[in-house]
Amino acid sequence: MPELRNVDVKHDRPVPDRQRTAMRLLVSSAHRSFDPAADLDWAAELDPELPGLPLHRVSLYGTDLWHGLSRSQQIELSRHEVASIMQVGLWFELILMQMLLRYVYDQDPRRPHAQYALTEVGEETRHSVMFARAVEKLGPPRYGAPSWVHNLGRIYKATAGGPAMFAPVLVAEEILDRLQREAMADEAVQPLVRGISQIHVVEEARHVRYAREELVRMMPGLSRGQLRRQRAVTALVCYLLADSLIDPRVYRVVGIEPSAGRAAARANPQHRESRRWMAAKIMPFLREVGMVGGPSEALYRKACLI
Ligand SMILES: [Fe+2]
Ligand SMILES: [Fe+2]
Repeated sequence: MPELRNVDVKHDRPVPDRQRTAMRLLVSSAHRSFDPAADLDWAAELDPELPGLPLHRVSLYGTDLWHGLSRSQQIELSRHEVASIMQVGLWFELILMQMLLRYVYDQDPRRPHAQYALTEVGEETRHSVMFARAVEKLGPPRYGAPSWVHNLGRIYKATAGGPAMFAPVLVAEEILDRLQREAMADEAVQPLVRGISQIHVVEEARHVRYAREELVRMMPGLSRGQLRRQRAVTALVCYLLADSLIDPRVYRVVGIEPSAGRAAARANPQHRESRRWMAAKIMPFLREVGMVGGPSEALYRKACLI
């Protein structure tokens, strides 16, 4: 028996034609793009007094462990946390680039939709180099997702398609966007981090538009079984991404055991609230288009994304 189609998925959201949207995005890219190598002051000394993140976004903020740290240790921890977030962001950009290249593989390259996908890959390569240089400049070691998550990423980037390709990318882009908008407006944050945030916010707005519209177009075509699978993959990837953002090894820099720091961060109401705040723009959209729902929804709660 054929599976039911269009279950739980709204169809009434107007979506512009994909070629028209891509054309607009291509024009925007041509007019408003950055070259981080030239547009940021890489030679400027870091200010030792300034944190890498607004301090209230540091995972231990407000805990007993936090109150036991000196001001300079708090600043040091904030730099290591932003370096971890940048490296996990870079990892996810690599995943996205591979998925976009697979996505465009079968498309007509004469069409704006294919050309915009390639343009986005170009922007992401510049972002990844920008994040890599910033971490190098800030000084922390290599941080990232646990190796088993890193290896699961190989399967995901090589096989994902449809909504489960675009929805986790949107979550990654939108949660970083909230953090970066706040950081770029905060004069108490390290200028290099503010500059990077500004570049990323402007260029990611286009990527978000592209991915949101693709998702809205794809959702109504899913059968009930496909919807269940796409939701499950998306929820799992979003959970692992959110859970990996802060590598627990960051806590070593201020003399806290990684497992103790991670446990304190997970229990920290301020940090849990920050996670929900970061996801507050994207989760209602994912729910509206039908991507969040069913048993896999529990994973978003576990990740403090809802
Ligand atoms: Fe990016
Ligand atoms: Fe992006």
